Amino acid sequence: MCGIVAYLGKKEAYPILIKGLKRLEYRGYDSAGVALLNGKLNVYKRKGKVQELENFVDQKSTHGTIGIGHTRWATHGKPDDTNAHPHTSSSGRLTLVHNGIIENYAVLKEALKKLGHTFKSETDTEVLVNLIEEVQNADGLSLEEAVRIALTKVVGAYAIVVMDRNEPDKLVAARMSSPLVVGIGEDEFYLASDGTPIVEYTKKVIYIKDEEIVTVKRNGEISIMSINNELQTPFIQELEMEIEALEKGGYDYFMLKEINEQPHTIAECMRGRLNAEEGWVSLGGVKQLQEKMLNADRFIIVSCGTSWHAGLIAEYLFEDLVRIPVEVEYASEFRYRNPVITEKDVVIAISQSGETADTLAALKLAKERGAATFGIVNVVGSSIARFTDAGCYIHVGPEIGVASTKAFTGQVTLLTMLALMFAKEKKTISDAYFNQLVTELAKIPEKVGEVLAINSQIQYIAGEIKDAPNALYLGRGYNFPIALEGALKLKEISYIHAEGYPAAEMKHGPIALIDENMPVVVIATNKSAYEKIASNVQEVKARKGVVIAIVAKGDKEISKIADYTIEIPETEEPLTPLIASIPLQLLSYHIAVMRGCNVDQPRNLAKSVTVE
Ligand code: G6P
Repeated sequence: MCGIVAYLGKKEAYPILIKGLKRLEYRGYDSAGVALLNGKLNVYKRKGKVQELENFVDQKSTHGTIGIGHTRWATHGKPDDTNAHPHTSSSGRLTLVHNGIIENYAVLKEALKKLGHTFKSETDTEVLVNLIEEVQNADGLSLEEAVRIALTKVVGAYAIVVMDRNEPDKLVAARMSSPLVVGIGEDEFYLASDGTPIVEYTKKVIYIKDEEIVTVKRNGEISIMSINNELQTPFIQELEMEIEALEKGGYDYFMLKEINEQPHTIAECMRGRLNAEEGWVSLGGVKQLQEKMLNADRFIIVSCGTSWHAGLIAEYLFEDLVRIPVEVEYASEFRYRNPVITEKDVVIAISQSGETADTLAALKLAKERGAATFGIVNVVGSSIARFTDAGCYIHVGPEIGVASTKAFTGQVTLLTMLALMFAKEKKTISDAYFNQLVTELAKIPEKVGEVLAINSQIQYIAGEIKDAPNALYLGRGYNFPIALEGALKLKEISYIHAEGYPAAEMKHGPIALIDENMPVVVIATNKSAYEKIASNVQEVKARKGVVIAIVAKGDKEISKIADYTIEIPETEEPLTPLIASIPLQLLSYHIAVMRGCNVDQPRNLAKSVTVE
C-alpha cells in the first residue's frame, strides 16, 4: 500500500518519477505527489490518480536531477491534496515520502508541537519528517544519522525516502516491514517500493532489509547502516523482471491481459518442475524442508484475499491426495488469536506480493513458536520470500490488475504440484492415479486456452446479468473455493454485492434471497456429487432464480435446466479449479467494463496490503 519512488543522478528526475508512480499505482491511487530539488524545492501533490498530478504539473517547473515521488492509499487522514505525500518539515528543509504506518505518531506529534513544530496535514508521515528534523537540528547531525536515530523512536512500519534541501547530492532511505529496492545505474540511483519503476534503467538492485538505512550520493557512493549503527555490506542482485510484462500489450486493461496470459503463465509455473512423459514432479524449493513437510502433523496455511482462496483449494488437495490435515487461516485472524502451533506444524504462506503485512506477521508468530515456514510467492525477493525457511515462486510475472487472476491460477498450479509430489513420496495415491493427474495437469494450459476462446459467449452472458444488484455463486468440493473466488472477483471490480457459498448450504440462508433478480452462478463440473448439484440448481429454478451453470463439455442434465450454460473442458476433479476459475474471471471482467468501472484500479482497493 502506497508506492514510493526516488531518483538521484544526471537525468531529469520528473519523468522518471511520474513513470515510476504510474507503475506503482497498483499500490494505491488516492493521491500522488512529487518533490524536486533544483536550488529551490518544488513540491506538487494532487488528490486522485497520477494522471491528475501530471495534468496539474503541466507547464510548471519540473527541473531537477534529484526527486522523490509517492502514490497513496490513505490510512491517516482523508485522501486530499494536503494529506498527499511528499511531506515537508516545518522549516521546509526536509521532504519525505512514506509507505506504512507510524503507530506512535500521536505521542510524537504532541511532543513535537511543544518543541515548536507545526503541522498542516492529518498524517503520521508529517510527524516522522518533523521528528527527523528535530533530531537533526538538536544535535547537528548528518541526514543519515538523524534518520537512524529518529527511527529508533518510532513504532510501526515504514519504507521512507528523505531529501534534504541543504544536501542536494544525497538521498536517505530506510525500511521496516514495507518494501524498498535500490537500483544502481552509472553514477545514479533509483529507489522504489518494487522493481517496476527501475527495470528499464538498470537490473542491478539491492533489496533493503528491515531496520536498514541506506544513503546514496551523487558521486555514486552507497552505504547501508543498521538501525544499531553497524555498517552493512550491500548485496547486489539481478532484478528478475522484463519490461514487456509491465505494459498492456494492446489490451484495454491489465486484468484482461493477465487473464489471457494464463495458458502461458501456468505453463511457466510448471516449467522444469513436471514431466508428464516421465511421470515426475519436482519442486527444488521444497528440498530443504521436504522431510519436515512430509512428516508434518499438519499444514497451517496463512493468507489473505484471493490467496486465501488458493489456500482453501490446497486444503482439498492435501487432505484428498496426501492425507495431511490442513487448516486454512485468514492471516489477520490467526495472528491475533493465540493459535496452537507446534514444532511438528508447517506454516505455509501464500502471497502474490510477498508483502502482505498480516501474512508476514502470521509467519513471524509461527516461527517464534517453532514451526517451519514455507512461502508460495510471486514477487521475487519480496519480504515473505526472504523470511520463510523455504519456498517456491509461482513465476507468473508481474501482476498489475488489482484483482488477482494469473497469480491465483499460478498459486493453485504450484499447490497442485506440491500435493502430487508429496502424494508420490508418501504413496498416498496409486502410481496410476498419480500419472493420470500429472498427464492432465500438463494439459491444463491448453484447456485454459479453450475457455479463453469462448470469451464472446461469456461476454454475452455478462450483458444479460450486468444490472443485477446481487449475485450468488455456488460450488461443492473443489469448486466451493472457486465459488468464493468468483464472488470476490465480481465484488472487487464491478461493485455488485456477491456471495460465494457451498451449494448445499444455500438452503440454510441464501435461498431466502433468491428471486427473478438474482443471478446464481453454479459451478457444476464435479463428477462426484453431480446429482446433488443438479438438485441445488432445481431448487434455485423453483424460486425463479437465473442460473448460469459452468459445466463440463457434453453435460446432459444441468445444461438443460440452467438459463445460461458455459461449457468448459473436462479434467480430473482435483484440477477443475484451474479451469473453472477462468470463465468467472472473464464474467466479472466484462460486467465491470459494461458498468463503466475502472477494472484495473477498483475503488478503495490496493494490490499490496502492507498495513494491517
Ligand atoms: C489485496 C489484493 C488481492 C490479494 C490480497 C492478498 O486484497 O487486492 O488481490 O489477493 O491483497 O495479497 P497477497 O499479495 O498476499 O496475495
